[in-house]
Amino acid sequence: MSLSIPHGGTLVNRWNPTYNFVQVEKEIELDTIALSDLDLIGTGAYSPIEGFLSQADYESVVDHMRLSNGVVWSIPITLPISESLSSHYSVGDTVKLVKDGDVYGIITITDLYSPNKEKEALNVYRTADLAHPGVSKLFERGTVYVGGPITLVKRIKRTKFESFYLDPVETREIFKSKGWNSVVGFQTRNPVHRAHEYIQKTALETVDGLFLNPLVGETKSDDISAEVRMESYQVLLKNYYPEDRVYLAVFPAAMRYAGPREAIFHAMVRKNYGCTHFIVGRDHAGVGDYYGTYDAQLIFDNFTEDELGISLLFFEHSFYCKKCESMASTKTCPHDKSEHMILSGTKVREMLRNGEVPPSTFSRKEVVEVLINGLQRESVGVN
Ligand code: ADX
Repeated sequence: MSLSIPHGGTLVNRWNPTYNFVQVEKEIELDTIALSDLDLIGTGAYSPIEGFLSQADYESVVDHMRLSNGVVWSIPITLPISESLSSHYSVGDTVKLVKDGDVYGIITITDLYSPNKEKEALNVYRTADLAHPGVSKLFERGTVYVGGPITLVKRIKRTKFESFYLDPVETREIFKSKGWNSVVGFQTRNPVHRAHEYIQKTALETVDGLFLNPLVGETKSDDISAEVRMESYQVLLKNYYPEDRVYLAVFPAAMRYAGPREAIFHAMVRKNYGCTHFIVGRDHAGVGDYYGTYDAQLIFDNFTEDELGISLLFFEHSFYCKKCESMASTKTCPHDKSEHMILSGTKVREMLRNGEVPPSTFSRKEVVEVLINGLQRESVGVN
């Protein structure tokens, strides 16, 4: 086996720091999501996408989970602007992509279109309920989408955990230099609890390396901050993982909470980073009760292995079993539910807020310590 082929065949590179944009007058102000998407398109993490989606690609993604050329793609990567601003731009324009006074990119506009957001919500999020964080964000953003190829001219400032930001070209080099022929990617927006550790290590028994790739872009406000999480990952790896079998780097995208559709997106991106395998456990990228426990696994049945190009490792809901005295799932444990310690993220948040320490069967003590200290420092919730 060798490292995965990038999605669509080649790794996109739209990075050109010497691009001369002095003559470019028009500009579009980016929000945080669009800025992170711009960066990830530019470095090839979103290969084969080369820009914000054209209308044809957008409609094809919303309707069929494929780009208009048939390549699998499940989440619309769009550049929304307000209706009132849209009259300033025309197809053919070259426009600066700006955030807080800095130019981060250039787009050549090929499409300006009004999306059917109701349909986008129902197809992508399986709900139009504004209580869903991804749906509310969708409706909060502009009502006209700008499509076209981009050039990335400036990288996002990385004041925190700088050394954990790596582009796909870099992670691919690292995996190669470690001699890993098979690498399993792990997406998370939470601290790594015992259940996460269990499925990661179970996967690691059969592949060469684990790519721990926590998402650190925009998340909902009650998710644990990326700073505290990064601290918790490092302390966990230091104490419980073999150093030469794990690599930690951040995934700076925004969280969409789109459950099944986002699982496909997460897998394709990790393939671009060089992963040959990707873990999908219970309710991947889910929120509340919007998705069935295994919907994010079932959705992959829509595609052939060839068109996905990455092996999916599906895991059952895992827990600590008091009788087994180990982590397990219903696939491996015969005991009654009453023997199972199932602690949800919400429950842990409650416990920490009430000054209770979650048991070591749910989370390693070093991780709990980091979370408690982080909570005190930031006075925010823990998911
Ligand atoms: S996610 O939004 O990034 O998916 P989270 O960080 O909780 O949320 O999950 C990371 C990965 O671990 C996902 O693939 C998820 O399905 C899986 N996972 C989380 N908890 C469990 C569990 N108890 N049993 C099995 N898989 C789990």
